Amino acid sequence: MAVSPHPLIAAFDRHGQGQVFAFFARLAPDAQARLLEQAAEIDLDEIARLNRTLLAADRDATASLEGLAPAPFEPLPENGGDRAAWATARTAGEGALRAGRVAAFTVAGGQGTRLGYDGPKGTFPVTPVRRKPLFQVFAEKILATGRQFGRTPRWFVMTNHANHTATEAFFTEHRFFDLDPARVNFIRQGRMPAVGLDGKILLEAPDAIALSPDGHGGSLRVLDRSGALDLMAREGADTISYFQVDNPLVRCLDPEFIGWHLRRGSEMSSKMVTKTGPEEKVGHFCTLGGKTVVIEYSEPQMKREKIFEREADGTLRYRAGSIAIHLLDREFVRRMARGGDHALPFHRADKKVPTLDAAGRPVKPEKENGVKFEMFVFDALPFAKNPVVIETRRADDFSPVKNADGADSPATCRADQLRQSARWLHAAGVGIETDATGLPPFALEVSPLFGTDEETFAASWQKLPSKPVVHDGLYLE
Ligand code: UTP
Repeated sequence: MAVSPHPLIAAFDRHGQGQVFAFFARLAPDAQARLLEQAAEIDLDEIARLNRTLLAADRDATASLEGLAPAPFEPLPENGGDRAAWATARTAGEGALRAGRVAAFTVAGGQGTRLGYDGPKGTFPVTPVRRKPLFQVFAEKILATGRQFGRTPRWFVMTNHANHTATEAFFTEHRFFDLDPARVNFIRQGRMPAVGLDGKILLEAPDAIALSPDGHGGSLRVLDRSGALDLMAREGADTISYFQVDNPLVRCLDPEFIGWHLRRGSEMSSKMVTKTGPEEKVGHFCTLGGKTVVIEYSEPQMKREKIFEREADGTLRYRAGSIAIHLLDREFVRRMARGGDHALPFHRADKKVPTLDAAGRPVKPEKENGVKFEMFVFDALPFAKNPVVIETRRADDFSPVKNADGADSPATCRADQLRQSARWLHAAGVGIETDATGLPPFALEVSPLFGTDEETFAASWQKLPSKPVVHDGLYLE
């Protein structure tokens, strides 16, 4: 009598994805169980739909950018913004922090392939003197906010399957950098299978599907599924401050930004910086069909023509660059996470995906052999009511560690941290020598517990009973 296959295997067969179980019969029972468990994570209808829409579709066909215009933004006071409105925003934001309405949210589920660092990216030592890891920098900023406003915000850290355990262990080992462990939550994002160029789900081992994180847009789903939104609701927090794990300069809990967001009744707010030049590889805040959108640098029409357009005064027309810092309304996230008409779209990324050949032998591809599907958080913007974009000072908010060297590397980020410390010292009346770019000739480090901006730094500096001599290796806490 024939044994009927496992229902999951039968479903994969029906969807033309039977190759996932090609080596199943020769696996040990625990390996079979592992593969079945991974297979159960996959939404076969979703993969079929993505194969139809993203794989089979004409790859050169792009959405029309007809009617595209730069999105309006609130300029900083020094660039013509309304000084009184910024001050009002700040007061409102400080009130929200005092009332415990804001949670911090770090997305740390990326794979960090460009940096090539072995370990969760948040554990990368980033500061110039103490070599503090990225996670510690954020922890101290959160603690500093707590000290300043009397309530320490809850912190959600999004991990992925591969780095979740190591991330938790790192926090435990460092005693949560003095935060209350009960107020730090690790939430693990979902993953998606890679498919071959023919739409077939790829195996990375006889007992393992090639699965990878579902993009930073997966954060909206996981905030809902993990119960994070419910927890926030119980605690009276309604605003999520979203930032990336790779940017130690970020003002994690910025009162002015929070104030603009709340006063406008915005469901999703963003920060922009003026692009350094037409070819800086960041997304662009634009309006399209009456909605605020981010159009990526890599979008062909953008790359070909729009990025070079200039205003009559010579400034770049599409100068508002996105630096992946957002505020999200809790219930907006819930609405987006539950999908329906609001589901975030998936994007296709062609990658070299290590896999197996038909005989089960490992293949290390030399060129792109597969496709990964990812969601991007900024795709939520057009669904948000009253979205606000504000300008921020790049030097005080953005210097990511993306690459091992060159632009956006540990070296450029270190220099930007040094320049910031030097600027704050200057502003507090301490003359130190710098080069033309503001870089001091030696290492300095300011803990966020000493100051998180020019003002809080100056206040702490004034309070020092005796002023330290500024020298190589000076660390202020
Ligand atoms: P990046 O786009 O820089 O990707 O992520 P990455 O995976 O970190 O690095 P590469 O491209 O492999 O070199 C931007 C931010 O989004 C997070 C990252 O951790 C980073 O903070 N991210 C990205 C996630 O949390 N999950 C993802 O699936 C992707």
